[in-house]
Amino acid sequence: MSCAGAHLKIEFSPGHVHLVQDDQEEEEEVPAPRVLVTGATGLLGRAVLREFQNGGWSATGTGLRRARPRLLRCDLTDEDAVRGLIQEYKPDVIVHCAAERRPDVVERHTEAAVNLNVHATSMLAKEAGTVVLRVPVLFGEVEWVMESAVTSLWLKVESSEETSTLDHVQQRFPTDVRDVAAVCRALSERARQDPSIRGIFHFSAKEQMTKYEMGVAIAQAFNLPSHHLLPLTEQPAASASRPINSQLNCSRLEMLDLGVQPKPFSSTITDCLWPFTADKRWRQTVFH
Ligand SMILES: NC(=O)c1ccc[n+]([C@@H]2O[C@H](COP(=O)([O-])OP(=O)(O)OC[C@H]3O[C@@H](n4cnc5c(N)ncnc54)[C@H](OP(=O)(O)O)[C@@H]3O)[C@@H](O)[C@H]2O)c1
Repeated sequence: MSCAGAHLKIEFSPGHVHLVQDDQEEEEEVPAPRVLVTGATGLLGRAVLREFQNGGWSATGTGLRRARPRLLRCDLTDEDAVRGLIQEYKPDVIVHCAAERRPDVVERHTEAAVNLNVHATSMLAKEAGTVVLRVPVLFGEVEWVMESAVTSLWLKVESSEETSTLDHVQQRFPTDVRDVAAVCRALSERARQDPSIRGIFHFSAKEQMTKYEMGVAIAQAFNLPSHHLLPLTEQPAASASRPINSQLNCSRLEMLDLGVQPKPFSSTITDCLWPFTADKRWRQTVFH
């Protein structure tokens, strides 16, 4: 109970009730740290926003075309809008997930991509000490299967009446955005305590797979046939060149021992794809 600044408490003893002044200082409430997540409508940003919200941070997310209630709409290529956003929300940490990430689009619309990926990013980076987290190909809870190069394989897997070729040359390390989000939060919390945590870190799942191997693994995870999937051992034609092997050296991040262990591909991919199965009762059959 509190009264005009004085803190009073009621004490009971047999036959008596006392109203006494409580001299003990009230515990000071520590405000939750504030994070601003850009690209919070995108594949990674959605997971990052949720991770910080669940981790006790005061989290604000921004988007552009898909910005919806409870998210802010902000074009990050508009410098004044970005300045206003930072002044208003005064974040302790900014997790910048907004980017044009499709290599072919970057090649076709270079100026727009440079404005977002380079200029907007460098403007945000000037606001504070910077940590860059590099990651390989990502998948997660998608709004449509084509949203991730990994979940898009579902379309070929489920069409078992027609044969489909899948690249069997480029080595990839499909990584779940929920694991990346957990790393972002753990790294932010550590970097707030230790200002020497700056610069470039890598994070990646450990399972190495070609797209053909991912397709077969997805089919197996859902007990579907995979005989219609054919490995393509020639380099696929694409407008932007891609590395043969995208393995990242994650040793610098591992030394921080943040305690984030990627879960197996076969279990996490089923989490992400079951909403797209024809028979959604599949999940209930398998998990309950
Ligand atoms: N996905 C992958 O496989 C992958 C692999 C390696 C690295 N990455 C990196 O991970 C980060 C996140 O990628 P992602 O897959 O989550 O991308 P994404 O799903 O394509 O999302 C891109 C986000 O950027 C926002 N955005 C685009 N233009 C904007 C602008 N002018 N102003 C403000 N926001 C803008 C989009 O907002 P709206 O949709 O609301 O317009 C969306 O929220 C990127 O840095 C990417 O390079 C991704």
